[in-house]
Amino acid sequence: MPTAPRILAFAGSARKESLNKKLLAVVVEAARAAGAEVTVVDFKELPLPLYDGDLEDASGLPANATKLVELITQHQGLLIASPEYNSQITPLLKNAIDWCTRADENPFIGKVAAVVSASPGAMGGIRSMTLARQLLTHLGCHVVPVQCILPGADKAFDDAGALRDERHRKSAQGIATALVALARKLDA
Ligand SMILES: Cc1cc2nc3c(=O)[nH]c(=O)nc-3n(C[C@H](O)[C@H](O)[C@H](O)COP(=O)(O)O)c2cc1C
Repeated sequence: MPTAPRILAFAGSARKESLNKKLLAVVVEAARAAGAEVTVVDFKELPLPLYDGDLEDASGLPANATKLVELITQHQGLLIASPEYNSQITPLLKNAIDWCTRADENPFIGKVAAVVSASPGAMGGIRSMTLARQLLTHLGCHVVPVQCILPGADKAFDDAGALRDERHRKSAQGIATALVALARKLDA
């Protein structure tokens, strides 16, 4: 029996009612159904100071950055929900990634990755998703070609957190399956 791929999942929003956290939860369940072991990290519980070279010189990596680096290192894959602020990825996500890249070794190299984005707007955060994919590729991740955006995300979930629309459910399932399949292939 092959071992289950280990996936670390997080969203670039700390907000309790984050639409990206909700979409992440749906994709996480689909990844588990596809056979992955998924660890979800909430950045609300892993606060980090804004990156500052002076702070780094004085005290090195903050403890929570070290924790995040360890988590990334312990997993084969990353599943990231990337909200869109002014057509970019959020400062929260960028800051977390920036801190992690200040570790002795870049923890992103060789990871399998998938990015999803949710927005109340008509474009579903597609620009943020694209930029996050580009950033992860630059850092050495193998990003799955499958893409998943959720436009109109403020109306897309029912009270239990499930996606109302069948097309959206299929899209979430498709990216989860692709991520798990690529993690399995690269582990072979
Ligand atoms: C500063 C700011 C800028 C935003 N810019 C965009 C944008 O460019 N495109 C977009 O689709 N939504 C934009 N939004 C709306 C966010 O998509 C929306 O607030 C979303 O719910 C944030 O993600 P979250 O629910 O996971 O926290 C912006 C929101 C904020 C706070």
